Amino acid sequence: MPTGLIAAIDTTDPQRARALASAIAPHCGMLKLGLEFFLANGGAGVRLIDDLPVFLDLKLHDIPNTVAGGVRAVLPLAPRLLTLHAAGGAAMIAAARKAAETAGPARPLLLAVTVLTSLDAEALHATGVAGGPRQQVLRLARLALDHGADGLVCSAHEVAMLRDALGAGPLLVVPGIRPAGAAIGDQARTMTPRDAARAGADWLVVGRPITEAADPAAAAAAIAAEIEG
Ligand code: C5P
Repeated sequence: MPTGLIAAIDTTDPQRARALASAIAPHCGMLKLGLEFFLANGGAGVRLIDDLPVFLDLKLHDIPNTVAGGVRAVLPLAPRLLTLHAAGGAAMIAAARKAAETAGPARPLLLAVTVLTSLDAEALHATGVAGGPRQQVLRLARLALDHGADGLVCSAHEVAMLRDALGAGPLLVVPGIRPAGAAIGDQARTMTPRDAARAGADWLVVGRPITEAADPAAAAAAIAAEIEG
């Protein structure tokens, strides 16, 4: 499967989200709505974004029963992808998968977040994790995939290592993408769309380089072309 483009629409304003979705949709395969949009607008807001399948990035993390209830609660919105924290453990991930399966074959695919890319080695150590970030990413990736996750959210710099260790099976969805020359913002370790696609990512998630461009549609089209090229 060729690498696809997901545009992250990070705003609390439903009108802005609607306008961005209309402009960008022809150049993307999916649109990502995250915590800020969901907390501000709820399910009714998600339903406004009907141009493309939706990646609902809620990074669920709670006891298994509560996460399962959360997954069931969003099933009527029919997200294509849904995130949860692998650190929630085997039982939480299994409960989420069981809940997702009640939607049948069109169920959302579950993506596990391993180590947040905002945590460096020192910050991770301070949380009580003894090994380094790569070791912890791999440990949590295996745990998540063994208990029902369909794939992982990971840094572009982890794709090759994860493909080596885990094979072609897991869906790898990669944020922290910056076209050459784009502002890096708060993303620490970025990669260009072309390099991330070549490394083996299934989907690239791009936010501000599209949403803050003077012409978001043109920016999305250029990134899509770079992925294909
Ligand atoms: O604007 P930018 O391209 O940095 O947006 C990246 C998107 O991916 C944001 O919605 C952010 O929440 C999300 N994300 C991330 N890093 C992760 C996981 C998700 O940047 N490790």
